[in-house]
Amino acid sequence: MGTRFLPATKVIPKEMLALVDKPIIQYGVEEAIASGIEHIIIITGRGKGAMEDHFDHSFELDATLERRGKTELLAVSRGVSMLARISYVRQKEPLGLGHAVLCAKDLVGNEPFAVILPDDVIDADPPCLKQMIDVFDERGGSVLATMTIEGPGISAYGVLSGSQDAENPRIYNCTGMVEKPKFEDAPSKQAIIGRYVLTPRVFELLEQTKPGAGGEIQLTDGILALAKEQKVFGYTFEGKRFDAGDKFGMLQATVEFALKRPEFAEKFREYLKGLEL
Ligand code: G1P
Repeated sequence: MGTRFLPATKVIPKEMLALVDKPIIQYGVEEAIASGIEHIIIITGRGKGAMEDHFDHSFELDATLERRGKTELLAVSRGVSMLARISYVRQKEPLGLGHAVLCAKDLVGNEPFAVILPDDVIDADPPCLKQMIDVFDERGGSVLATMTIEGPGISAYGVLSGSQDAENPRIYNCTGMVEKPKFEDAPSKQAIIGRYVLTPRVFELLEQTKPGAGGEIQLTDGILALAKEQKVFGYTFEGKRFDAGDKFGMLQATVEFALKRPEFAEKFREYLKGLEL
C-alpha cells in the first residue's frame, strides 16, 4: 500500500513514483528485458491501474506530439508502450508477497521465472537479474539476490542461513531463511533483496504456505520449503541497490541516477557543489 511514502502514495501507486523521469516500475521492466526476459507479468491491485495505462499506447498524447512535430518526445512515449509483452494479474486482497507471486502461477506455467520487486531499484551492469540468471544456468538451482546488512536494519528483510560457497564467494548455499527476524535472532547478515530466479515448484509450495511474519503469506516461507527439496542459492550481486519505496532511499537514488544522465549531469553536479552543506 506504499504507506512508507505517504502522502505521495494516497492516490498514486508507489510503483508509479518517478525516479528522475521514469516511474520505478519502468526501471524494473527495463531490467527484465535487458536480462533476456520476454514476457512480463505485473501483479496489480485496486488503485494500481495507472501502471497499465503507462505501458499502453497513449493515443491523445501521441497524436498531439505528432501534430506538433515533437518527434523525440513521441519516440519516448511510443517507446514505453512498445517495451515488452506485458500481462497483468490482479491480486484481489493484499495477502502478502508470496500470495502475489502465486497469482501469476497460471500465466507462468511450468518453467523457471524471475521476480522483481520494483521498489528495489538496482543500478548494475550487467543488470542484477542477468547476473542471477547466469548463476541459475550454471548451478541449476533457484537464486535470490542478497546483500550484507550490518546492524538492526536486517530486521526489515528476509535473512538467509547457510554457508558461503567454496568456489565463488558471491554465492551462498542456503539451508534456511527467515522473514523479518528480530536482530538478535537473525541467522546471518545476508539479506534478501527484491530479485529472485525460481523454479516453478515454488508455486505448489506457496499454495501450502500459511501466513507468517505480519500475518502475510510470505515468499520467503515458500522458498524455505523449496530449499528443503532443491538447491537454493543466495547471490551477492555486483551493483548498487536503492530502496525507492522509502523517502530517503528515493532521495539517494534521485541524486545518483540524475548524476548519470548525460543531458543534465554536469549542470546538476555544479548545482550540488554550490550548495552550502
Ligand atoms: C520483501 C521480502 C523480504 C525482502 C525484501 C527486499 O519485503 O518479503 O524478504 O528482504 O522485500 O526488499 P518487503 O520490503 O516487501 O516488506
